Amino acid sequence: MDRSTRKLDHIRHALTTNEQDRNSFDDVSFVPNSLPNTGYNEVTLDTDIDSFRLGSPIVINAMTGGASATTEINQKLAIIARERNLAMAVGSQMAAIRDPAVENSYRIVRKEYPNGIVFANVGAEATIEQARTAVDMLEADGLQIHLNVMQELLMPEGDRDFRGYIENIRAIKESLEVPVMVKEVGFGMAKETIQQLVEAGISLIDVGGKGGTNFAKVENMRNVQPLPMFEDWGFTTVESLLEAQSFPHDGVSIMATGGIRHGLDAVRALALGASAVGIAGAMLRLVRTSTLDDCLNAVDEWHNQLRVGMTALGVRKIKDCRRIPVMITGTTAQRARLRGINLENLAQRDFGQSIDS
Ligand code: FNR
Repeated sequence: MDRSTRKLDHIRHALTTNEQDRNSFDDVSFVPNSLPNTGYNEVTLDTDIDSFRLGSPIVINAMTGGASATTEINQKLAIIARERNLAMAVGSQMAAIRDPAVENSYRIVRKEYPNGIVFANVGAEATIEQARTAVDMLEADGLQIHLNVMQELLMPEGDRDFRGYIENIRAIKESLEVPVMVKEVGFGMAKETIQQLVEAGISLIDVGGKGGTNFAKVENMRNVQPLPMFEDWGFTTVESLLEAQSFPHDGVSIMATGGIRHGLDAVRALALGASAVGIAGAMLRLVRTSTLDDCLNAVDEWHNQLRVGMTALGVRKIKDCRRIPVMITGTTAQRARLRGINLENLAQRDFGQSIDS
């Protein structure tokens, strides 16, 4: 199967599989604060991830490019990003690296969003030269390297050899002039993975957990010999955030993607240490089903929900969210405890000391 057919398959199946009403974010709740001493209009949404100052913690995460039919999707995503000052990533650029005829499906993003923060995207098997080509193609501000072992294994035409990835990631990081983010695509990350990445010099990590778009399901829908027993593989986004919190990693920015449904999920992720949240499947659904105005309204509504949550919790700045007391219950709590994560400390954080005034 050629790459452009695969891209379109991914879009078609992602639209039908990402429909979970409940996910790990439902296991995250807040201690109410009846005296928050803050005002809705005081809340600011700008946030720092690594060396980037973003106007919003919501990032349009990597999805597509590589087939002419995807140009229109990337164009609309880039317009939304521009109009609402969101950072944005494109889908894997290997298609255009191998076939420059489809470069425009990616370049359209920079064309529509000349001054925005745009991330290029390649897999961990990419050579330094390919990584550089991806960045140059978009004049990208940063590079995402995606990890998707289970997806590749379930893809009939997928990779089967994952040796040397961490050395390759280190080499790319050391050779590029732009910041490098490593991201999962929906199987989450354990602290052991995060630790290896940090040791390899990576200071920008998207833990990319389970709960939204499920690429095991997507690939099984494409595969004549599906392996459905792997559809529940991995850590959820909340579990991955707890893993990331469980060892000190000063100077490392965490992003959370995977099943962010609304602004309250974003506040939950920020409270668990994320500095930004990525949204992919829900954005795709929006651009495929709604007018540009309705897409912009949806982003405004997510921002409103974020502000409502932050106001009620008494936080004015995104970076202060990470000190809000937060309670983890249900399956997430059971699994986190097995991993030795102290949930009582999280639930008993001190409001009073947490907030910059
Ligand atoms: C993706 N995602 C993705 N990620 C990546 O790093 N490179 C890629 O090429 C793609 N391709 C892709 C295609 C489609 C159609 C979707 C929906 C997603 C993964 C994406 O960035 C994100 O990590 C997951 O989709 C989980 O987030 P959501 O969808 O639950 O918000």
